[in-house]
Amino acid sequence: MQSGFTDSSGRSISYLRVSVTDRCDMRCVYCMAEDMVFLPREDVLDFDELERLCAIFIGRGVRRIRLTGGEPLVRRDIDGFIGRMGRWLRPEDGRGPGRLDELTLTTNGSQLPAHASALVDAGVRRINVSLDSLRADRFARITRRGRLGQTLRGVRAAREAGLAVRINTVAMAGVNDDEFDDLIRWCGEIGADLCLIETMPMGETGEDRREQYLPLSDVRRDLSRRWTLEPVRAAAGEAGGAGPARYVRIGETGRRLGFITPLSHNFCDTCNRVRLSCTGQLYTCLGSEGATDLRALMRDGGSDADILAAIDGALAHKPARHDFRISGPGGAAGAMAGVGVQGPAR
Ligand code: GTP
Ligand code: 5AD
Ligand code: SF4
Repeated sequence: MQSGFTDSSGRSISYLRVSVTDRCDMRCVYCMAEDMVFLPREDVLDFDELERLCAIFIGRGVRRIRLTGGEPLVRRDIDGFIGRMGRWLRPEDGRGPGRLDELTLTTNGSQLPAHASALVDAGVRRINVSLDSLRADRFARITRRGRLGQTLRGVRAAREAGLAVRINTVAMAGVNDDEFDDLIRWCGEIGADLCLIETMPMGETGEDRREQYLPLSDVRRDLSRRWTLEPVRAAAGEAGGAGPARYVRIGETGRRLGFITPLSHNFCDTCNRVRLSCTGQLYTCLGSEGATDLRALMRDGGSDADILAAIDGALAHKPARHDFRISGPGGAAGAMAGVGVQGPAR
């Protein structure tokens, strides 16, 4: 029996991103349309199906799982599911049958006050929280339905429960590009890392966001005039290692600052991950549309061996790199040309 997944480019796949729902209590402008229509419930995998697929991936070498959405914490009884997934974690003393090194979550933070301690009890140690502005009016405009105070309460609850927090900020020209210093300072105060993300041509927004594209290399150069940015390198198996973020440490705050730059500098060579949607579609690359339908296989009575074979087949075609382009047919104006893929959080 083969012990791990390796893709067609020889990259070993040890990280699975799992969307547990397409629903969300916000409608961020870069992610969802205002009048978003969500999937019928029966299309979404139930928790037994999700756990079965995760177990197959774990059996084949996946060591880190990140739960995403939509907003994962709006799914009913999500605490129960996270508790079940936590049982796959390797115990901290290294003894026991668990084989997962890490279970993490990406959330918009709004529901954290009610869930933070359940996450800790399940064995989650770090989470990523999306927050694009510290100004209430701006935050409301970007998220359309979010309230800044509620997300801030969520972040506080997470820190008080003992979770390590990374704040995710999508950097948008003319929208929040005057706030990076404030975000760095605030993250320093609350003991969180910060990660700036280039806005990607994905999601079902029906909007053209090319004008908001902000190359993070420019942002980094600008920040380095005011902050001491010391390069840090996370090893492949560490938190943040082999992920899309490239980190520096900010001398003045001691916290990490990450940059996710899918457009200006891709990170595909070290990609260690695949993505499972809440309908059981396996995407081997965030920037590709093609998916393998594991739900159909499972609901048609496929065995674990059948599912493994389908996963292996998909990995044989994992693209060497994603297809976001900086310049498209429209030259500079085509900055976001390329693909219109399903939302990244899904
Ligand atoms: P860790 O690597 O576990 O620390 O987290 P992460 O940065 O992958 O997770 P998060 O959910 O916070 O995602 C941050 C941003 O990275 C989001 O915009 C994701 O869509 C994007 N992202 C995550 N994985 C990939 C990937 O494999 N390829 C691309 N292009 N983007 C990714
Ligand atoms: N471009 C860049 N980042 C995005 N996110 C959601 N949609 C986009 C996009 N179009 C981010 C969210 C969240 C993470 C999962 O992905 O802010 O932090
Ligand atoms: Fe919801 Fe996250 Fe998408 Fe915003 S980016 S609408 S919080 S899933």
